[in-house]
Amino acid sequence: MVAPLLGLAVLFLTTSLVVYKDTQMYEVVYQDASVYGVVGKAVILECGPSVPDMYIWSFTKPGTEGIKAVVYNVGRGPRIQKLADTLGQLTVISNSAAISIEKLPLAAQGLFTCQAFYDIDNEPKVYYYYVHLIVRVPVTKPYLLLSDVSPVEGSTMWMRCNLENGTGPIQYVWQHETRSGNITIIAQGDSSVINVTDVNRNHTGWYRCVASNAVNSESSNRLWLDTIFGPDIPQIDVTPYSITERGYSALERETVSLLCQAQSNPASQYVWYYNNSQVYSGPQFTITKILRMHTGDYACLAQNTYLNTRSKKTISLTVYYPPDGSPSCSVEPALNHTSLRLLCSWPGGFPSPSLHWTGDLIQDQSNTAQQTSSASSTTIMLPSGGLTSNNSLFTCLGSHPALKQSTQCSTRTYIPPAEPLCFAYVTNDKQYLMLSCSWEGGVPKALVWWEGPEGQSKGGEQTSNILILRYGTARSGKPYTCHAKHPLLVETKTCRLTLEAPVLQTQRRVVSVYEGSDVQLTCNLRANYLPVNEITWFNNQGVGVQDTSKYMLLRTPAWANLTVRDTDETQDSGEYRCSTSNAVGGTEINITLVIKKNPMPPNATLVRVMYTSRQRNEVELEWVVENQEAGGWTGFFLEHRWVSERPRRKGSGNEEKVGPGVWHRNILQDPAVRIYTVGSLTPTVTYQFRIILVNHRTVGHPSAAKTPAEPHYNVYPAVIGAAIGGMLFAAILTVLLLMYIIRNRNNNPRLHDLLFGRQHSQSRENINFPEDEVVSRSEGGIEEIGPVMALPRASSPLTSSPMSATLTPTSQAPPPGDDNEPVSVTITVKATGS
Ligand SMILES: *[C@@H]1O[C@H](CO)[C@@H](O)[C@H](O)[C@H]1NC(C)=O
Ligand SMILES: *[C@@H]1O[C@H](CO)[C@@H](O)[C@H](O)[C@H]1NC(C)=O
Ligand SMILES: *[C@@H]1O[C@H](CO)[C@@H](O)[C@H](O)[C@H]1NC(C)=O
Ligand SMILES: *[C@@H]1O[C@H](CO)[C@@H](O)[C@H](O)[C@H]1NC(C)=O
Ligand SMILES: *[C@@H]1O[C@H](CO)[C@@H](O)[C@H](O)[C@H]1NC(C)=O
Ligand SMILES: *[C@@H]1O[C@H](CO)[C@@H](O)[C@H](O)[C@H]1NC(C)=O
Ligand SMILES: *[C@@H]1O[C@H](CO)[C@@H](O)[C@H](O)[C@H]1NC(C)=O
Ligand SMILES: *[C@@H]1O[C@H](CO)[C@@H](O)[C@H](O)[C@H]1NC(C)=O
Ligand SMILES: *[C@@H]1O[C@H](CO)[C@@H](O)[C@H](O)[C@H]1NC(C)=O
Ligand SMILES: *[C@@H]1O[C@H](CO)[C@@H](O)[C@H](O)[C@H]1NC(C)=O
Repeated sequence: MVAPLLGLAVLFLTTSLVVYKDTQMYEVVYQDASVYGVVGKAVILECGPSVPDMYIWSFTKPGTEGIKAVVYNVGRGPRIQKLADTLGQLTVISNSAAISIEKLPLAAQGLFTCQAFYDIDNEPKVYYYYVHLIVRVPVTKPYLLLSDVSPVEGSTMWMRCNLENGTGPIQYVWQHETRSGNITIIAQGDSSVINVTDVNRNHTGWYRCVASNAVNSESSNRLWLDTIFGPDIPQIDVTPYSITERGYSALERETVSLLCQAQSNPASQYVWYYNNSQVYSGPQFTITKILRMHTGDYACLAQNTYLNTRSKKTISLTVYYPPDGSPSCSVEPALNHTSLRLLCSWPGGFPSPSLHWTGDLIQDQSNTAQQTSSASSTTIMLPSGGLTSNNSLFTCLGSHPALKQSTQCSTRTYIPPAEPLCFAYVTNDKQYLMLSCSWEGGVPKALVWWEGPEGQSKGGEQTSNILILRYGTARSGKPYTCHAKHPLLVETKTCRLTLEAPVLQTQRRVVSVYEGSDVQLTCNLRANYLPVNEITWFNNQGVGVQDTSKYMLLRTPAWANLTVRDTDETQDSGEYRCSTSNAVGGTEINITLVIKKNPMPPNATLVRVMYTSRQRNEVELEWVVENQEAGGWTGFFLEHRWVSERPRRKGSGNEEKVGPGVWHRNILQDPAVRIYTVGSLTPTVTYQFRIILVNHRTVGHPSAAKTPAEPHYNVYPAVIGAAIGGMLFAAILTVLLLMYIIRNRNNNPRLHDLLFGRQHSQSRENINFPEDEVVSRSEGGIEEIGPVMALPRASSPLTSSPMSATLTPTSQAPPPGDDNEPVSVTITVKATGS
């Protein structure tokens, strides 16, 4: 820039810059520059690139026009003006026109003008250097101001970044530091205030602002912003975790922990409710060994005590528990006993256990097993038609979430092992007849029903069925049928009862026996009739027979035997009757008992009647039986009677007593005896003796009575003579016989005993020969013509002089068919060679 030069004199003389216009034009150059300084710091203001000959620094305050000299140099060294004191420590840098200001004050800001004169002597040049000094202030440390350090979530707040000094423009940066230390810039700009609308919990944290200008940047201290919020809807954690469509579930006896968490500032206070009653305070509610009764609604209430706000969440907790024991299995008939229904039940428990049938289930395309289940039981229907076999096994498996292992039960089906059983009986009071039918042992139980004539039927019952009929209303000859049905069998089983009136029979209509024996009358049912009353016997007087000494009853349901003991011709002969009846009729049969007298025994003769001594108190008697080979007696009556008594002393005047007395009887039951001694006689009395044979009860003719003879003495020679003379032959035989008997003592003790006396005295013997049985068997076995045994009371007679003994039945039982002959077995030992 070229300007007309002003005269130096003018320049120096005037205090204001006046440009004089000469005739000579000078070149004036203007240069502008800006210098930035910072308050308190140093700054150098240059005045041209080279040192001028003269210069003048002046200062113009901003906003004013006045220009005031600060320092000049007109060739005599720099002269600093007073004004310079207000502009800091101003010095002129030696050998230059530049000025340096230490500790720059804010007041130094303004326009410094350096007027420089070069080459004054020759061609003077004037430069104007305009230096605009701008004094900047650094930003001071800002401090943050929050309208609310604890704002409630949702509210609005502001933040202000305050600072005392600082040259604008100032930039603000807003930082947020989270609890975890993550720092983010949330805003920046030239505003020292920011608004936060809708404060939320994410705003919680440290805040600082950073203020910056051209000089520096300063950061405020951090401030904590605490957002108040909550509680949120609580979250409930259930351990162990198990969720179903019903809500949470737990197994009985477990320890269950309920943890409630609700976001809140300040932290929530927790209260637990069970079915709306408070049970616990605190976040974690633990139930050790939870029980089924703890099922219900659990609510967690969270409270923010600062805000006095609350929130609540409810969960439902179901406690699962298993049913008691194990499932129970059963099988029952279905569809009218043609099919089976399997039942499995396991009551109790929550939730209901799951039950499942397995086993021999028939899978049929058309008719598959249908399974229906309800709570705690399951039913399965098996197809009908006898498809299930005997001894099939069915198992029901039960499982429950509260049990680790499943449990089971099983059942089997069985066909009843035997056939149905029918039988009938009568009540004790004869009011009712009961027809019973049973078919035991089936699983499931069989169905049993009765069908009888004229509507006398009875519907089905299980296993057994009793048809009750009033006694006497039962139909004779018509079948009563019992039907029995089991689901495992297609066919129906039956058994049948036909009621018939009983028929009695006997082996002999007429029974005849000899007097004195026992006789058995028999009476039996012809067939096995339905319940028949006891067979009763009536005696010849028509009186019902009891067990007495006279009668002996042997009875079974099928027969009754009456034994008449010790039969007597007059008392016991007659019609006996046995009778019985049942629900459909009665019956009786007569049996005629004929008691026969035994035949007359033979006659006997007393061959010797003699006192044994002179004392006359004993008489020995000996007799012979006429025609004894024929037999026919069982014993003797030996009778004596008083005839007369002579006086003790002759001529004492006592008269003789006259006239016979009554007969005294000695009963001899041994038919073999021939010699007998009667004692205890009165010596002064004259007696008569006689012998009478007895055949059972039949008494024979008495022999001629005899008076005993006195004993005679010295008769031995005569006897011996007679023996030697007449009996020599017999004696030889006797000796031979004796030797035989002694040798064969063991073979024939009876004979031995007879001759040599007995060790054990027996007055009579019962001899049973095996022939007895042979005889009776040969005649038995045919209806109504069996033997009726006459039981002899006494044994058979035996003669005492045997040589060779043979047993010959003299009178046998009558031939079959001869009802009227008495049955008597008489055994005689016949002596030959005597
Ligand atoms: C701010 O500036 C004023 C005047 O310039 C001064 O008095 C004060 O000390 C300064 N403050 C700070 C913190 O620098
Ligand atoms: C910090 O915040 C930033 C941005 O929001 C994110 O990407 C980063 O993962 C955070 N770091 C941490 C440690 O939270
Ligand atoms: C902040 O909010 C106030 C009042 O609500 C308003 O005057 C001001 O302009 C807002 N400032 C900003 C930066 O939005
Ligand atoms: C808070 O921040 C999280 C993730 O940082 C976000 O998912 C959530 O929505 C935020 N909450 C609010 C109220 O903005
Ligand atoms: C709690 O409530 C549940 C469901 O309403 C109910 O089954 C249970 O019996 C209740 N328990 C008590 C102790 O009342
Ligand atoms: C059941 O079975 C019996 C004989 O098998 C028959 O008489 C009766 O009518 C049946 N009942 C039904 C309801 O089918
Ligand atoms: C059914 O099975 C059982 C056991 O195996 C057996 O004892 C019985 O005899 C059988 N019954 C029939 C009718 O087969
Ligand atoms: C009863 O008589 C019957 C014949 O009717 C016979 O078979 C049975 O053996 C007798 N009973 C007795 C104990 O004698
Ligand atoms: C049986 O004998 C009695 C008399 O004792 C008589 O009344 C009855 O008619 C006889 N019965 C028969 C079947 O002979
Ligand atoms: C037995 O004796 C009686 C009278 O004493 C007589 O009548 C009878 O004929 C005799 N019998 C025989 C078989 O001699």
